[in-house]
Parts: sequence; structure tokens; C-alpha cells
Amino acid sequence: MTVLNLEPDMNDAALASDPTKAVPVFIPDGVFAEKVTEVQHYTDRLFRFRITRPQSFRFRSGEFVMIGLPNSQKPVMRAYSVASPSWDEELEFFSIKVPGGPLTEHLQKIQVGDTIIMRPKPTGTLVNDALLPGKRLFCFSTGTGFAPFASLIRDPETYEKFEHVIVTHTCRQRDELKYSHDTVENTLNDPLVGEVAQGHLHYFPSTTREETQHMGRITTLIETGELYEAMKIAPLNAETDRIMVCGSMAFMKDIRTIVDKLGFHEGSNADPGTYVVERAFVG
Ligand code: A2P
Repeated sequence: MTVLNLEPDMNDAALASDPTKAVPVFIPDGVFAEKVTEVQHYTDRLFRFRITRPQSFRFRSGEFVMIGLPNSQKPVMRAYSVASPSWDEELEFFSIKVPGGPLTEHLQKIQVGDTIIMRPKPTGTLVNDALLPGKRLFCFSTGTGFAPFASLIRDPETYEKFEHVIVTHTCRQRDELKYSHDTVENTLNDPLVGEVAQGHLHYFPSTTREETQHMGRITTLIETGELYEAMKIAPLNAETDRIMVCGSMAFMKDIRTIVDKLGFHEGSNADPGTYVVERAFVG
């Protein structure tokens, strides 16, 4: 175990009764220790945060890493999709807050300047390499499952591979959509990606428990055809479309059934296919 020495601004409540006093931060071996640079809370269930990026850390947009909090011999580490694109100087994450959750109960209290630990190896299937070439990329997400797509839609390479990128995000309530709404808007106005994304990035938000413009589970909206009608697009077609899915277990199971029936087949890094899925982190 490494002891990273004496940080005057460390504010871990468990160790720092007087935050002006220097407090040692215990960092297990083999992980990066990074600083929180920004925290934004959307609701009592969802928040986003940014951390410094280790210079040597490389990842492909859409991949996830294991992150946790320091000060434990055996820290609780959880898989988090990197929500920022691979060119970003910092790393961004979109997290749920689970009451009593082993990690998120504490993680939701982080503040700017706090330390986050991160294992060095990114991985994941929601990457362009796991899909065969196609014309349209559909990214279906629920809740924090939007995170990997926040990365992919900000990566210019995504628009080199696909003519149209259609991202859907379904949450219970309106406020839970703010992260995806803001990310899409910022992407379209971004000096680096805005130009390639405009006219090619299409966003479809929906809610299930509060009235908004589009109501309903995305699975239902696909099956009834309401998604296509609302977006004025052609229905899913396994010949030319590719699909990425990220969200809860129940959602993934249901959407798999739908796309399997439509003739899509699942791909992986080793054997690219016409759709890929990844479970959003919970807990
Ligand atoms: P619903 O409100 O009908 O359960 P959660 O916050 O629980 O992770 O859910 C996020 C969104 O995913 C909610 O809008 C929820 O709808 C939706 N959802 C949950 N289960 C499924 C499923 N099996 N198929 C499609 N959408 C689902």
C-alpha cells in the first residue's frame, strides 16, 4: 500500500475532523489517484463528476474503468463507463446514488479536490470495433446507461464510421434527462465535434413517470413504431443499422429480444456483430 502524503485540502469526513489539518490519503498499490475537478447533482438519484486524467491513461470512447474511493485496504471498486471522449483532458462519469450502496452512498458526497482511485485498465464492448460497418448507429440507454454514449457522441471517429447517430435516453422523470440533454447540446456547439455532429447526431429523450414530450419505455416505442414516427426515420434494419445498448438488466433483456427478432446478432471485440450491449453500473 502506498501512502500519498499529506494533503491539506483533503476533506474525507472519516479522517479529517479538522479539514485545515493535513490528512494522509491511503492509496492501494496499482491504481491511479486522481482529483475531483467538478461535481454536478441533477436529482436525488443522479449526478455527474469530473476528475483529472492520468497522462498515461488511454481508452477507447465507450469503455469503462473500475473506480473507487481511497482510505481502505480493500476499497470498493465499481465499473463506470467513461462519459468523456478519449480526447478530453479530464475524465467524466455519470453516476447513480443508491441509498446504502457500498460505493455510491459515499461517492455522492465527493467534492472538488477529493481523491478518486481508478484501476489503470479500461475495457468494454460498447466500442466501434465490436460492430460491423453500418450506416446508422442506434444507441439505446436508460438511466446512467447514457454514460458511454456521452463519450461516443463526442468522438469525431463515431461520425467517420456512421452517417447518422441516433441516441435515445429514457428515464423516469424529466430532471433525470438533463445530463443527456446538456451533453447533446454541448456536443452540437463544441468547436471540435460540433461541425461533424450537426445534422448527423439525433437525440430522442423519453420519460415513463412524468409527462414530457415523449412518453414511454423505448422498447414499447420501438415496437409500436412511435420512435420512428416521432423522429421521422426509417425502422430498424439489420442490413444497414448497428445498435449499442446500455442500461438496467431488465431493459437489456427486453431490448435483446426485440433486436434478435429483427435479425440483429450480438458482437464483441473479437467477433464484431450488428449489436452490442453493456449493463449500466448499479449500486
Ligand atoms: P419504468 O418507469 O416503466 O420502470 P430505472 O431508473 O429504474 O433504472 O429506470 C430507468 C428507465 O428505464 C425508466 O424510464 C424505466 O421505466 C425504464 N425501464 C425499466 N425497465 C425497463 C425494461 N425492461 N424495458 C425498457 N425500459 C425499462
